Amino acid sequence: MTRILILFAHPALEKSRVHRRLVRVAQEMPGVTFNDLYEAYPTFDIDVRREQALLAEHDLIVLQHPLYWYSTPALLKQWQDLVLEHGWAYGSQGHALRGKRLLIILSAGGRAEAYQPGAFNRFTIREFLAPIEQTAYLCGMAYLPPLIFHGAHRMTLDDIGQAAGHYRHVLEALRDDALDPAALGAWQTLNDALNIMPMIGKSTQAVTQ
Ligand SMILES: Cc1cc2nc3c(=O)[nH]c(=O)nc-3n(C[C@H](O)[C@H](O)[C@H](O)COP(=O)(O)O)c2cc1C
Repeated sequence: MTRILILFAHPALEKSRVHRRLVRVAQEMPGVTFNDLYEAYPTFDIDVRREQALLAEHDLIVLQHPLYWYSTPALLKQWQDLVLEHGWAYGSQGHALRGKRLLIILSAGGRAEAYQPGAFNRFTIREFLAPIEQTAYLCGMAYLPPLIFHGAHRMTLDDIGQAAGHYRHVLEALRDDALDPAALGAWQTLNDALNIMPMIGKSTQAVTQ
């Protein structure tokens, strides 16, 4: 069994539609540790030793957040800056994260079609996430393709329920070692790997018509 740690960063959960639903799933799931960073550190005063201890106790680290300005919310950047210390996470003596896996689960206002070369946002989400992918590599972690919930503003409650179903399925499969991380590496996104993009795309399209 894979021990999963979710590092959740949403600065306005009271206004959230998508993550509020996903969080309910995560909090009820056995074998998953849910760490709400904005709740724990509202003043950005991160307890580095606590965070490092949590990381050490888990195999799969999930960064879960809404996409903000093509990146993470600010507290998750602060978390990286403080927690991933030289000599602990990287460097000649820094091996604490080696062999662990990193997965990003994010929601985006923009639709999947908008995140392509030549389209509205000009780059893929995978390209926007390159700094985190390289950070994982530097720390000796395996980087899994991200799971993306597109078109967040257009999602109906049914769409969000369906997204929560995909989210549950992915977390359970990873926890129970039913997904081979090595086989996922060739895919751009976890949506593609699991073929759930058409379902998400379809439901998103349906409500924009
Ligand atoms: C400050 C801010 C920046 C945002 N930047 C982006 C962005 O760069 N790309 C995008 O697709 N959506 C962007 N969004 C939309 C959010 O990603 C979207 O509201 C969120 O994923 C919805 O999830 P929620 O219902 O859990 O809040 C932004 C929203 C805010 C408030």
